[in-house]
Amino acid sequence: MICVGNRTCFLVVKPASKLNNMLYLKNEGILSEKRVIKIMILFYSRFGNTAKMAEEIAYGAKEISGISVAMRRIADDVPMEVVSQNPAWSKVVEDLNDRYPTTPIENLVNELPQYAAIIFGSPTRFGNMAAPMKALWDGTSSLWVNGSLVGKVGAVFTSAASVHGGQESTAISMMFPMLHHGMIIVGVPYSVPELTESGSPYGPSRIVGMLANKEIEEADIKVARALGRRVAEIAGKLV
Ligand SMILES: Cc1cc2nc3c(=O)[nH]c(=O)nc-3n(C[C@H](O)[C@H](O)[C@H](O)COP(=O)(O)O)c2cc1C
Repeated sequence: MICVGNRTCFLVVKPASKLNNMLYLKNEGILSEKRVIKIMILFYSRFGNTAKMAEEIAYGAKEISGISVAMRRIADDVPMEVVSQNPAWSKVVEDLNDRYPTTPIENLVNELPQYAAIIFGSPTRFGNMAAPMKALWDGTSSLWVNGSLVGKVGAVFTSAASVHGGQESTAISMMFPMLHHGMIIVGVPYSVPELTESGSPYGPSRIVGMLANKEIEEADIKVARALGRRVAEIAGKLV
């Protein structure tokens, strides 16, 4: 504890050189200026499967202290008139809208630089990221020009209908723009035992079946949470 004058004291919880790691106690009140590492999980999901993965990744990230997670969802490009012709699909979309209202791409682009780490999730579409996720990247020229994402930690995840449906190529396709932006990409190491059953070193992935209604499995959850924890730990070290 270091005191300046007779009423203001600092409780030093990390090396003194890291001023932003201090907890400030002032007078009888507490100014909680503890450092928080901000992570955004940014996903697109048509039927909710990628959203479920985003939740598990968030769960893992929040296991690390000092982490805050913002969930952001990119809107679908299918009009509601089309969705509403299918009651089951409408229900999924209503549920997604309730839990994760969509954010316009322009707002997301403006928000991205605030985060130390960004984890991107998209369903597999013909072995590639889905168009709404690509549209987001295509809107980031200003960030690229200004180097706004250089040095930020990044990671990816995906879901696909079939066993070898292009999960790995989709994960890698999402990494191309991240590398152009100078992000530091984090994958899942084989020290996560469940990686032999689910996902890949490029990022968590899961198989959802042709009707996109397969339940998430335990191994999928373990790998997703492991990525969340890993991104949080690495972001904490780099920031
Ligand atoms: C246009 C389109 C292309 C798709 N391409 C693939 C594919 O290449 N491989 C695959 O396994 N699944 C493919 N799928 C299935 C989706 O990956 C699957 O529905 C998705 O992972 C479900 O995620 P969501 O619930 O988050 O939307 C495709 C689906 C659509 C609509």
